[in-house]
Amino acid sequence: MKTIAITGVLGYSGRYVAAEAQRRGWRVVGLTNSAGRLPNPEGYELRPMPWSTGEDVLAGVDVLVNTYWVRFSYAGAGHAAFSHAEAVKNTLAMFAAAQRAGVSRVVHTSITQPDAASELPYFRGKAELEAALVATGMPHSILRPAILFGDTPAESILINNMAWSLRHLPAVATFGTGKYRMQPIHVQDFAELAMDEADAEAPHRIINAVGAETYSFRDMWKLLARAMGTWRPVLPVPAELGYQATKVLGALTGDVMLTRDEIAGLSQDRLAVPGPTVGTRRLSDWVQQHAAELGRHYASELARRG
Ligand SMILES: NC(=O)c1ccc[n+]([C@@H]2O[C@H](COP(=O)([O-])OP(=O)(O)OC[C@H]3O[C@@H](n4cnc5c(N)ncnc54)[C@H](OP(=O)(O)O)[C@@H]3O)[C@@H](O)[C@H]2O)c1
Repeated sequence: MKTIAITGVLGYSGRYVAAEAQRRGWRVVGLTNSAGRLPNPEGYELRPMPWSTGEDVLAGVDVLVNTYWVRFSYAGAGHAAFSHAEAVKNTLAMFAAAQRAGVSRVVHTSITQPDAASELPYFRGKAELEAALVATGMPHSILRPAILFGDTPAESILINNMAWSLRHLPAVATFGTGKYRMQPIHVQDFAELAMDEADAEAPHRIINAVGAETYSFRDMWKLLARAMGTWRPVLPVPAELGYQATKVLGALTGDVMLTRDEIAGLSQDRLAVPGPTVGTRRLSDWVQQHAAELGRHYASELARRG
């Protein structure tokens, strides 16, 4: 039986990849920051992240699936600080540990349109990591999702919180025109792709892990509102004004709802790409199925971090 190490098996996408790996007969080892903090109902064997220990946690591992990253940099009160710079450093240490351990393939999660020249640390950091992985010479697949959704509303933070805004606010907004697009992929489609790639033969693959449907930000509001039967005016507002509004909502919910950089990434149309799509599960079907639950509760990124 081959062994696969997966980061974030107690988190979001990593949990679905791990379940898919088990279905396909792999032995799963979970790499996590959160042993003891998050529940482990599947009873996965857990090991610490490679950079946080002197142990050779990737010994005996055939394939590494990496989902580790941080959504934004944070140094506020009440939660441990984290940053993109630290995530880049830690991921480089993980690649080095994989190389030392003789891991035969790395499946690495990136983002649509990573960009070494971007002023946005998310897209710049992801480009740096892709280049570093290529430079290791290890066989690898790089998966570039735009946004993940499913299986439950609470896990689909951006989409759930758009639905929450529709339920709780008298009007909603687009940052600027709202014509910029996104191609969400269902987390199970992503997990199946990751496990297909764990078995791939090609030495070097890059795949845009995007779903079957493309929505502009404006149309995303309409899709959700229609499914939920909740009409609200959608106002185009200057991006900075929209950001300040999300800051107020963040203060009320004890979260960071969206960052300036995330709004810039959206506005730069970075979450859509030309070419073939991968996901087959349709966002519109999922929204319809979950309309009654979507947005009932705010999904907090910071609360998820503990
Ligand atoms: N979710 C999306 O919509 C989306 C969209 C585009 C790209 N992606 C990419 O997909 C990958 C997985 O995303 P996900 O939403 O499934 O991530 P996740 O489950 O929240 O986290 C994945 C891993 O990163 C660690 N991590 C996350 N935030 C952290 C923080 N603030 N400090 C320390 N460790 C942290 C988690 O740690 P623990 O071990 O403690 O759980 C886990 O090991 C990422 O590379 C992300 O860039 C996601």
